[in-house]
Amino acid sequence: MSDWIPLARPLVGKREEQLVLETLRSGRLSLGPRLAEFEEAFGARVGAEHVSAVSSGTAGLHLAIRAAGVRAGDEVVTTPFSFVSSANCLLYEGATPVFCDIDPRTLNIDPGAAAAAVGERTTGMLPVHIFGYPADMPALEATARERGLWLVEDACEALGAVHADGTPVGSRGNLSVFAFYPNKQMTTGEGGAVISPGPEVKVRIDSERNQGRAPDMGWLDHDRLGFNYRLDDLSCALGIAQVARLDDLLAERARVAALYNEALAEVEGLELPCPDAGGDRRSWFVYVVQLPQAIDRDAAVLALRERGVDSKPYLPAIHLYSFYRERFGHREGEFPVCEDVARRSLALPFFPGLTDGQAERVVEAVREIAMEPAPEYR
Ligand SMILES: Cc1ncc(COP(=O)(O)O)c(C=O)c1O
Repeated sequence: MSDWIPLARPLVGKREEQLVLETLRSGRLSLGPRLAEFEEAFGARVGAEHVSAVSSGTAGLHLAIRAAGVRAGDEVVTTPFSFVSSANCLLYEGATPVFCDIDPRTLNIDPGAAAAAVGERTTGMLPVHIFGYPADMPALEATARERGLWLVEDACEALGAVHADGTPVGSRGNLSVFAFYPNKQMTTGEGGAVISPGPEVKVRIDSERNQGRAPDMGWLDHDRLGFNYRLDDLSCALGIAQVARLDDLLAERARVAALYNEALAEVEGLELPCPDAGGDRRSWFVYVVQLPQAIDRDAAVLALRERGVDSKPYLPAIHLYSFYRERFGHREGEFPVCEDVARRSLALPFFPGLTDGQAERVVEAVREIAMEPAPEYR
């Protein structure tokens, strides 16, 4: 369908093409100079000194929790309202995610519920800055200090977000992880980055992403268990060009969000993403609305598709995935706020370069399905 409006699309331009091509022609396709160059540029942009670029956000989360000291049998308090890998990474190390409910406004982990979920075997907490809205880190940090827990921040959706005290998300001195899949605020194709609190942690992460080699060791010297979580130089080249234009990419997303905010405010019963409050500043990653209770969300997805508009149930509750139900015995009703939001939330097309005309078409389609649902979609 030529006038199909997709959910997401990266914005890459001439500079990206040029840098990737230069890198391709250089013959240094991995472990070349682009890696350090990208890490430095990215660190400068987020206000963090110790950056390790890795092959995905998931790989970054895995290395971050290992560096935090997670052990098999540990329990880790985290949110059920997230992309599945923030919980899966714990399973890679034999730890158990202990879910708790979310704040109905921000959709981030509820700090009170998180504190209450800390038990005898809890060693850490893994909050997620969901949909680019900063999680309440001061409250979570206080609990972590009191209870002697480690903290890893999943900032995969929140590049460019800022906490009320002015710290950019990911720069508070906790291990933090970003992701660069093509739907993210900036992309390297696949890719991610871990922010370490100090140089020793970065050395460990750099080693583990590279098969357990020390920085100065030869190709077949390995002094610890490692993985191949490297980010290649072509991806880094793409990332260098994207970091350079990140302010523009973020501004473009904010422009599209403002269009939707204004036009969708009139649709009765529709809940829009929460506005910034208390000094916290969202970085726009996705535009997710919550449909009125009476609307069948899955039917709404089909109705939008018929109108040429892509959309996605986003996000399902992690604890209700069949794999999590079977393995941990989770069931409906455990986390009512999360489950209600997960049942009604719908991601709309959202990307830099989305035109006014496309936004109007999306809004019109949403208005049709939300205000006057046809009988077959009720
Ligand atoms: C909250 C969250 N955590 C982790 C990830 C994993 O990142 P990746 O897809 O790069 O592995 C994503 C990205 O999809 C995400 O949105």
